[in-house]
Amino acid sequence: MNILVTGGAGFIGSHTVIELYAAGHTAVVADNLSNSCQESLRRAAQIIGTDTIPFYNVDIRDKAGLQEIFEQHTIDACIHFAGLKAVGESVSKPWEYYDNNIHGTLTLIDALRQHGCKRMIFSSSATVYGEPAEIPITENCPKGTCTNPYGWTKSMLEQILTDLYHSDSAWNIVLLRYFNPIGAHPSGMIGENPNGTPNNLMPYITQVAIGQRPELGIFGNDYPTPDGTGVRDYTHVVDLAKGHVSALSAIERGCGLAIYNLGTGKGYSVLDVVSAFEKASGVKIPYRIKPRRAGDIATCYSDPSKAEKELGWKALNGIEEMCRDSWNWQKKNPAGYICTEQK
Ligand code: NAD
Ligand code: UD1
Repeated sequence: MNILVTGGAGFIGSHTVIELYAAGHTAVVADNLSNSCQESLRRAAQIIGTDTIPFYNVDIRDKAGLQEIFEQHTIDACIHFAGLKAVGESVSKPWEYYDNNIHGTLTLIDALRQHGCKRMIFSSSATVYGEPAEIPITENCPKGTCTNPYGWTKSMLEQILTDLYHSDSAWNIVLLRYFNPIGAHPSGMIGENPNGTPNNLMPYITQVAIGQRPELGIFGNDYPTPDGTGVRDYTHVVDLAKGHVSALSAIERGCGLAIYNLGTGKGYSVLDVVSAFEKASGVKIPYRIKPRRAGDIATCYSDPSKAEKELGWKALNGIEEMCRDSWNWQKKNPAGYICTEQK
């Protein structure tokens, strides 16, 4: 299939483009480069062994820009990654988050249906469970109260896509709820490229390891967890990327509306991740215990058995590989990508 990948220059998108080609698909990327550089796609093309990956510097809110893509390509399905994702920023800029993520997705859906393409995979998040009602979290766990506008955009977009499917069953839509993607392509050529101070744990750790930051702050050690620090289901980004290829097969089979957790089913505390990283890298990570971060929960890990049963997808990499590959990427690219294009 030929897949429109919105946000395909970003962290998860660029890894997914590689897995799409590896599975015999092709991709057209639409990205406004607001949180990425085209260099990720140049490198992805090298890994794939193709001259170039079709790319459009387009904002998904731009109807005419999307129209041009559909005029030039036959699109069989869309994998929709494009969105703003910084939790703290979403609290200070809620309008921008709702405009980008909700208005953007509505504009994209309209373009898709106008061109008769009613197949979409949507990047959702474990954040839609709020304070989860059960651990491990199955897809039957009720959605919860989100603690920030970013989370609400994911929750609302899931609802919008669900309503769309109920109004027109010609749609096939897969909502993928990701659990803490980390790691990088094992080549070390592509990886996560945070803008400014990282909000998430792994990029913070790798920047401490490379000497860009003096120490890690651990947000609370008084949670009801084995060592008091927060427990999460870290998932290798390459496994996650492969999950999208499996979801595409479900769409081809005519899955209707389907929801899957993409996680490993294992929970690791912040201190577990620090020691796994030290073991994988041989670098000591100095840290200091800080107060809890607003909006954090104690424990969040998935029951990924539905994806295994119905999609035949299972995460293959463990925490060792995740730490090894995050470190390999950071070592080879101490400053991340060097962006050459104008934003
Ligand atoms: P990312 O920021 O690396 O990638 C998102 C891409 O979308 C970027 O390249 C950005 O330039 C692009 N983009 C943003 N707004 C756009 C717009 N209006 N038009 C066109 N392009 C636009 O983030 P990521 O980590 O790769 O996340 C991909 C998706 O997965 C996002 O929707 C994110 O919310 C979701 N998600 C991410 C995580 C995570 O921890 N990384 C967890 C759960 C869900
Ligand atoms: C965060 C977002 C979530 C989003 C997800 C994407 C919040 C409250 N939640 O999840 O909405 O979908 O990213 O991956 O921001 N930690 C530290 N020190 C740090 C950074 C993190 O101790 O410098 C701890 C956190 O308290 C948490 C764990 O590490 O216990 C993981 O944090 P993070 O990587 O930010 O992910 P989440 O909080 O799970």
